[in-house]
Amino acid sequence: MRWQYENEISRCLLCHDPLCSKACSEGVDPAKRIRSLSFDDIYSAAENLDIDRCKNCSAPCQENCILNKQSGPIRIRELLEAAYEEGLKNELSDIEPDLSVDICGVKLENPFLLSSSVVASNYEMCAKAFEQGFAGACFKTICLFEQHETSPRFSALKSQNGSFYGFKNIEQLSDHSLEENLVVFGQLKEKYPDKIIIASIMGRNEKEWEYLARECDKAGADVIECNFSCPNMEESALGVTIGQSEELTKRFTAAARKGTKKPLLAKMTPNITDMVPVAIAAKEGGADGIAAINTIKSITSVNIDTLAPLPSVKGKSSPGGYSGSAVKPIALRFISDMSNCEDLQDMHISGMGGITTWRDALEFLLLGCGSLQITTAVMQYGYRIIDDLIAGLKGYMRERNIKDLYQLIGAAKENIVELDELERDTILYPKFRNEQCIGCGRCYISCYDGGHQAIRFDETNRRPILDAKKCVGCHLCLLVCPAKAITTAIRRVKKMTS
Ligand SMILES: Cc1cc2nc3c(=O)[nH]c(=O)nc-3n(C[C@H](O)[C@H](O)[C@H](O)COP(=O)(O)O)c2cc1C
Repeated sequence: MRWQYENEISRCLLCHDPLCSKACSEGVDPAKRIRSLSFDDIYSAAENLDIDRCKNCSAPCQENCILNKQSGPIRIRELLEAAYEEGLKNELSDIEPDLSVDICGVKLENPFLLSSSVVASNYEMCAKAFEQGFAGACFKTICLFEQHETSPRFSALKSQNGSFYGFKNIEQLSDHSLEENLVVFGQLKEKYPDKIIIASIMGRNEKEWEYLARECDKAGADVIECNFSCPNMEESALGVTIGQSEELTKRFTAAARKGTKKPLLAKMTPNITDMVPVAIAAKEGGADGIAAINTIKSITSVNIDTLAPLPSVKGKSSPGGYSGSAVKPIALRFISDMSNCEDLQDMHISGMGGITTWRDALEFLLLGCGSLQITTAVMQYGYRIIDDLIAGLKGYMRERNIKDLYQLIGAAKENIVELDELERDTILYPKFRNEQCIGCGRCYISCYDGGHQAIRFDETNRRPILDAKKCVGCHLCLLVCPAKAITTAIRRVKKMTS
């Protein structure tokens, strides 16, 4: 989509029971289409869109947009026209892509699971997620001791439109007893036999790990996930302290292994420099796969008036787990480390950390994940994000005639190499697309103050001019351009000698 539409799309509040769609008598469902645009799913946004109906309509959708009460309505008709135009570019094959995958032999109808957290804590929530299309759920971590949570327990860093780019929680484990959770597993398995239940467990000693694994297995869980990584449980030999120790990880994996023959995943902490040795220890203890990443220890902010860090519990806070879009690069890095490790080739990787759109999901798959888990995006937008995760992934596959998701799993992992293996003899110069440039000069400022002073600014025409002699091809200009008016053009240069 053109950049100006992206700004407009991001204004949409993604309402529950949206008034714009209620007002539409043409059957267009504008809210659903704009939601698809918000989640990068042009395929659904443009699908079967009879744009002439929109063009000839008085746009009651816009009149009823809830933003009339605030900053003015979303320009729905314009967005739908843009989606239509964009959709025309897609050439989709007729194949029906198969999204099914498996966790060590346990079949999933698609790779998307709720990750262990509040989003998967009871029957009603999981049932709703299953009905909407999630393939399964990893339940909120179960333990044998009582939880005593704080209020509040979340804080968020937000982008300008209010969406979270980073999210912090200081929550601990399930506030339901083991027995209550086991009943729910049974009920869910009875009603949804094809959906996958992963039981996330945390014991305080070997006996508890084994017991929890056995009981969850007996109650119908398809997979057991050992939570070796909760950053909000720090006592010795609990939560993150396990995942930071190869010895504890191996010992407790082996204990859980005694309780079940079903697939066993070890959930890793990113609060460590290198995850690989701990993943290998889990494998040695008997794990069949890795789940990564849990949340990253963080302090998101401090209220500068009250001096209370957030979330403020009577003026105090603690470092807590960071999740959401901001952690995706860190998750991908750990996943790449593990999927490229020789010793871990036979291990399933269930990836998570910031997955919001199908593009995020695809990146995790391309780097080697065989299944995917999500929390923060669901907390923000609800289970309905599954529509565009599935449709977007299928659209991508239909565009490329890819029938089977397994063709994509790990397809990019070999492209992550050591820094000293990168080619260093080519400069990719920026190319300014004058017709798209709006003359803001941001490229000039960044290049002058933070680059190599390789851009001049033509004041009369308000256009950048490149000085190729100074340009090193760093692409800062391209990254700061708000109008997507800069692309790249290849030039070869002679190898430099030091
Ligand atoms: C509010 C909240 C509660 C969580 N509780 C658990 C938990 O009980 N057990 C666990 O293994 N991970 C827990 N997590 C971590 C998530 O399962 C997941 O690993 C992490 O949030 C990264 O994924 P995301 O960016 O999609 O949220 C929790 C995360 C959040 C935000």
